[in-house]
Amino acid sequence: MKVAIIGQGYVGLTISAFASKHHQVIGFDNSLENVERLNKGISHIEGVASEDIAEAISKGRYFATNIPSEISDADVVVIAVPTPLTMDRKPDLTYIESACKTIGSSLLKQALIINESTSFPGTLREYIKPLVEKYSTNKLDHLYAISPERVDPGRTDWNQKNTPRLFAGLTQEASDRTREFYSTFCDNLVEVSSPEVAEAAKLFENTFRQVNIALVNEFAEISHALGISVHETLEAANTKPYGFMKFNPSAGVGGHCIPVDPSYLAHVAATKGVPATFIERANEVNLEMPKYIVERVKSENQGSLKGKKVQVIGVSYKPNVADVRETPAELVIEALEVEGASVSWHDPIVKSWRGQDSSPLGGSNIAIVVTLHSSMDQQAVLTSAPYVFDTTGKIVGAKGL
Ligand SMILES: NC(=O)c1ccc[n+]([C@@H]2O[C@H](COP(=O)([O-])OP(=O)(O)OC[C@H]3O[C@@H](n4cnc5c(N)ncnc54)[C@H](O)[C@@H]3O)[C@@H](O)[C@H]2O)c1
Repeated sequence: MKVAIIGQGYVGLTISAFASKHHQVIGFDNSLENVERLNKGISHIEGVASEDIAEAISKGRYFATNIPSEISDADVVVIAVPTPLTMDRKPDLTYIESACKTIGSSLLKQALIINESTSFPGTLREYIKPLVEKYSTNKLDHLYAISPERVDPGRTDWNQKNTPRLFAGLTQEASDRTREFYSTFCDNLVEVSSPEVAEAAKLFENTFRQVNIALVNEFAEISHALGISVHETLEAANTKPYGFMKFNPSAGVGGHCIPVDPSYLAHVAATKGVPATFIERANEVNLEMPKYIVERVKSENQGSLKGKKVQVIGVSYKPNVADVRETPAELVIEALEVEGASVSWHDPIVKSWRGQDSSPLGGSNIAIVVTLHSSMDQQAVLTSAPYVFDTTGKIVGAKGL
């Protein structure tokens, strides 16, 4: 099949790598810089798909483009563009609209259009289909389906092949064609009764994580106030063989999914008059964690951080990836700056961020570990400053939650 994948980011590039083993893939991205790098066989995202893309190019199975007409004869079009939040934390579907415009105005034959971008129930039926039709000049009757993406960047045990994939078409023909497409590179396909079920399931998966992370973060505060170790208490609870799932406290949530997707669910709930109170509260707790951490560090450093040199260690939102989107490290740094600290950051994977390069480890009065990559030497981190606060709970001997 000829497959056009709209958006060559974490999701689109990963799908391109898998799909290009079986199909002819056109990686469409509106960033010329990304397109030029990809066509040289170099991934623009550290650690994502570089070798697979280079191999696919060498076999003539992949090329990247920002020219819409290049997707005109695609059999399958996959949408993998960002779905962020607006400044007031509402769904921002402008990238989806732009992708629909590209698709509608370019396709010259009937295609199967699959949305992999995360959005609220009803997006495929009430938004994507009407928009593609609006921008289509030749009134083609396309097929539409949803298959929400579950990729976890940096993870190697679960990937596109072995992670069960939900899907549903707007029609049975669309569902059947979607199964046919993904079954070429995915082992476990789960068809659900409507696109809305698949869309809602994706949002609920990430809301489950967001709420449980907030719960354990609140519990960390309670444990500290009680004078007990949150980590030992969680280990103790985790000895129960059923009915408990362990989450770890942290500086908060980050990335493109956990801080964002629940707000899409809250948005659609509000349109139906149902308050999503857990989501709102979980957002508050997670967003307050950086301030709580800075307060703790302040209270353990003579009650003031004014003029003190503080190094934030590990600034990506999770270990072993360079992704800094929505990273809680940013809020930690902001809270430190409000307290008058002189802040630097160190991250061996994130080379450049906030207009600065990563500083060498050490040289500060205080270190706060937000993310611990496996390449980091824990002993070196522990001895990098006279006072080290480890929000991950992994460094033995450091202060922590
Ligand atoms: N990153 C993840 O871990 C992950 C996991 C599951 C689902 N998702 C969802 O997948 C979707 C994509 O996320 P991502 O992390 O890949 O985003 P990303 O920011 O890494 O990549 C998006 C890419 O799309 C391009 N783009 C933006 N608008 C475009 C347009 N109109 N036409 C063509 N290209 C365009 C950008 O240049 C960028 O390269 C989002 O809805 C996200 O919530 C992401």
